[in-house]
Amino acid sequence: MNKLLSASLIFVASLLAILSAGTAVATTTQDVSPYPLGERGVLTHRAVEARLQPVGTVCVKGEDCGVTVVAAADSGSKAPRSGEAVYKAHCSMCHATGVAGAPKYGTADWKPHIAKGMPTLYKHAMEGFNAMPPKGMCSDCSEQEIKNAVDYMVDGSKGK
Ligand code: HEC
Repeated sequence: MNKLLSASLIFVASLLAILSAGTAVATTTQDVSPYPLGERGVLTHRAVEARLQPVGTVCVKGEDCGVTVVAAADSGSKAPRSGEAVYKAHCSMCHATGVAGAPKYGTADWKPHIAKGMPTLYKHAMEGFNAMPPKGMCSDCSEQEIKNAVDYMVDGSKGK
């Protein structure tokens, strides 16, 4: 009797599991597919049409090809960022307050550094120097942008 009871319990449990799995599958398909039930198969007209699309399409410049052109914005951002922008985004976290002994922006801290000459400062900013990390940890900064940031900090701290 006991065996029969546990066997039927297992049966009911697996039935429940199958049922809930079934509902889960049904709801996800419904959520994902934008098409009505009859059009979801691999052999429907819509699916065949999608498979017959060429791999690439030709789009003449200036024509609206249904794609938002991001390239224009991209090429704009290729211009080196200003020293101020780079300083604010990447250098100020140390150079504004003097973290780890970093020379503070706009203070006499910079005097002994400026005395080394700009080529040395550029080199140390790119390659790192003591606690100054290479490129000030700005991995996507170009050499020009690092130079701009050095110029910005030096110009803002000269004669203090
Ligand atoms: C993690 C903190 C930190 C960040 C971020 C940081 N620096 Fe520095 N920087 C330092 C420290 C510390 C020194 C002082 C090193 C020394 O003189 O021993 C320093 C020194 C310098 C110097 C002087 C080097 C020399 O030879 O005297 C320059 C130039 C410089 N940093 C440029 C930059 C630029 C440009 C950025 C941003 C792109 C930047 N730093 C970001 C910590 C930082």
